[in-house]
Amino acid sequence: MIVGILTGGGDCPGLNAVIRAVVRTVHNAGGRTIGLLEGWRGAIQNQSIELTLDATNEIIGRGGTILGSSRTNPYKILGDDLRVAESFRKLGLQSLIAIGGDDTLGVAYQLYSEQGLAVIGCPKTIDNDLSSTDQTFGFDTSINIVMEAVDRLRTTAESHRRIIVVETMGRHAGWITCYSGIAADADFILVPEVKVDLDRMCNLLKKRRENGKPYGIVVVSEGVTLSLDEEFVTQDAELDDFGHVRLGGIGEMVADIIEKRTGFETRCVTLGHLQRGGPPSAYDRVLGTRLGIHAARLAINKDSGKMVALRGTNIVSVPLDTAVGKMRTLDLDVLKEAEEFFK
Ligand code: F6P
Repeated sequence: MIVGILTGGGDCPGLNAVIRAVVRTVHNAGGRTIGLLEGWRGAIQNQSIELTLDATNEIIGRGGTILGSSRTNPYKILGDDLRVAESFRKLGLQSLIAIGGDDTLGVAYQLYSEQGLAVIGCPKTIDNDLSSTDQTFGFDTSINIVMEAVDRLRTTAESHRRIIVVETMGRHAGWITCYSGIAADADFILVPEVKVDLDRMCNLLKKRRENGKPYGIVVVSEGVTLSLDEEFVTQDAELDDFGHVRLGGIGEMVADIIEKRTGFETRCVTLGHLQRGGPPSAYDRVLGTRLGIHAARLAINKDSGKMVALRGTNIVSVPLDTAVGKMRTLDLDVLKEAEEFFK
């Protein structure tokens, strides 16, 4: 029995924990695991490596992915999906585990339904925006990174009596911003799910200063849009293989507005890819390991067309078609709870 595995899309801490768990579980069942390199690109070009117990034994604490990743889409260039199917056959795979976000999992579903390939999905992203799982691994590590960054920014903000605006990733979902903002005691947070109220934010920052707090922290999601005289969206014009724009730049705009409206000296820090780098938290190591074990069990049992998911505290499997194509935006109840601190 040979099981294939690949990691697609933006990397995140915890991917290596999944790989290690798959290799171990397949080995225990008497099989071998082959890793396809750099996401779907490796599947198209048939580039792979043998994943042994020795090579994967100690990778649980390492960030990124030992397989490499890419945003390659086999449905962008005519015939690439057939090349994936050919690699699948040449390698003699019983099943292929695709670890990724909505794009990677969408391809996994198409390959399963159109090419009949035995593909199994495993959800990952720091953005936490996948609809069929309660939490994605990578998210916990990233909110801890933002929290630690804000803890450091707080002392310099206080020394200089400044406002610091921290721009976070997360695309069009505000999970990272809201959770890290709560954990780091931000004075205000701006998320894509809610219309931005600049007057309210600036008045609050002024009120806090009048009440004796000489500095402020604002956390803003990269996907926030501003309505001033016209709609402002900060994004790169170039699209990736899946048609996504690159977001970024809203933090600088918000900092500028705060400085102009309040008169307080303001700076912006964009955390960017720092939020995806470095070792995974204990939570992400455990979640990645559990998902990997369950994905491998599906692969061993030839139970494909499914995605492993976290429901409550259990790992379950759900049909891939119900798991893709729907973005899970921030739970607004959590935002309402956070609002208690923005008064
Ligand atoms: O989806 C994960 C993510 O980190 C987003 O939060 C962010 O917008 C995007 O990927 C950045 O992509 P890239 O690594 O291609 O710049």
